[in-house]
Amino acid sequence: MNRPAENRQIHVCANAEAAAVCAAHILMQTCREAMAARGVFTLALSGGQTPVPLFRHLRMLARKVRNGDGMDWAHTRVFWADERCVPPDHPHSNFGLAWRELLADLPVAPMLFRIRGEDPPISAAARYEALLYSVLDEESSREKKEGPAVCRDVPRLDCILLGMGTDGHTASLFPGSHALEERERLVAVTEDSVTGHGQGGKLCRITLTLPVLQAARLCLFLVCGREKHPVLRHVLKPCCSAALPAQLVSPTEGCLVWVVDMAAWQGKISA
Ligand code: 6PG
Repeated sequence: MNRPAENRQIHVCANAEAAAVCAAHILMQTCREAMAARGVFTLALSGGQTPVPLFRHLRMLARKVRNGDGMDWAHTRVFWADERCVPPDHPHSNFGLAWRELLADLPVAPMLFRIRGEDPPISAAARYEALLYSVLDEESSREKKEGPAVCRDVPRLDCILLGMGTDGHTASLFPGSHALEERERLVAVTEDSVTGHGQGGKLCRITLTLPVLQAARLCLFLVCGREKHPVLRHVLKPCCSAALPAQLVSPTEGCLVWVVDMAAWQGKISA
């Protein structure tokens, strides 16, 4: 499933802070390229704890940088790669995390397109899918026509920020999950037995499906921590038949970038 490594870059950073700075630099470069091509930057965020240093770094830069060298938040459309089926003010909400650590304090507010975790999951997923089609089709129609127009049935995000669990899941695509097999819908409802919240130890989640990840211009993995070393080593190997979800991510006409810290790369904490 995943293509050879020619479209893949791996950045190994000394620690989680350096990885956040590296990821922020890549996001800003991708934002500039998207602005030049389409006048807008479409970005999907993930949850978990790994992105927090990145969110805080982007928030600091937004306050400090005035000459436009940073992110162009005024022309950024923020989406989510996945969401837990909880209200936005719930401690487990991915939107709530990004709001508290980044979005609430931006001097210029981007347009936010969150997944409504407070709604019944099926209708929340359908609503988010309709939003993706309507917003992203409109943005991609602005694309300067270079070469033959490419008919795309899957809307393209400029960048999807992804994390990875120790089981190799990404977004809310868990090993063995039916959502991993979805090839028609853009959004799926799935269950997370990892965190084990909710009825019967399962937390319902809403996630982008693999087709959306493969259609992205850039999938940016941010993976830190020694506990991720075994799965990172496995996932970066050429894909085998029993591929883990993170191993399946390989944008068809886009780039795949891994930003990892030394602890995840080597399995030990750097000095
Ligand atoms: C989520 C994320 C999920 C996350 C991984 C890694 O909703 O939790 O989308 O895919 O990226 O579980 O989480 P940590 O960064 O906390 O290790």
